[in-house]
Amino acid sequence: MTSPSELPSSSELHRSVMIEECLKGFEGSELTTFFEGTVGAGGHTEALLKAHPEIERYIGCDQDPEALQIAESRLKPWKEKVELVRGNFIDLDTILSRRGIKEVNGFFLTLGCHLCNWIKVKRDLVL
Ligand SMILES: C[S@@+](CC[C@H](N)C(=O)[O-])C[C@H]1O[C@@H](n2cnc3c(N)ncnc32)[C@H](O)[C@@H]1O
Repeated sequence: MTSPSELPSSSELHRSVMIEECLKGFEGSELTTFFEGTVGAGGHTEALLKAHPEIERYIGCDQDPEALQIAESRLKPWKEKVELVRGNFIDLDTILSRRGIKEVNGFFLTLGCHLCNWIKVKRDLVL
């Protein structure tokens, strides 16, 4: 695990793509329970939480622990409603049922990778 001081800041690390389009997709929706499967550095999460203060519970999943460290720091203002989970979004059913969540009314994935993933791949290849 990388220490927080070794990690680039969220803005250096990753520019979240198509934030406006993402927000437009949820425009007018009353969101209460949200699942994001690829929370990464938390850029979309931050935008969604700002645009939808009605969200009560936000489960943010990612398989990369370093991305989750960055997201955790970025999402501190919403720490009461956000739970970050290290895992694969394919396990969505288990992740939600373990928390007693039967349904969500917001769901989001950004399929791809971010710089943190590449730094890790490069480091693993070098070592
Ligand atoms: C494009 S980034 C996400 C960007 C993020 N929405 C943001 O604004 O910072 C894609 C993320 O998906 C994660 N990821 C890829 N496949 C995954 C999977 N099967 N389950 C969970 N996370 C996955 C990667 O670790 C990476 O953090």
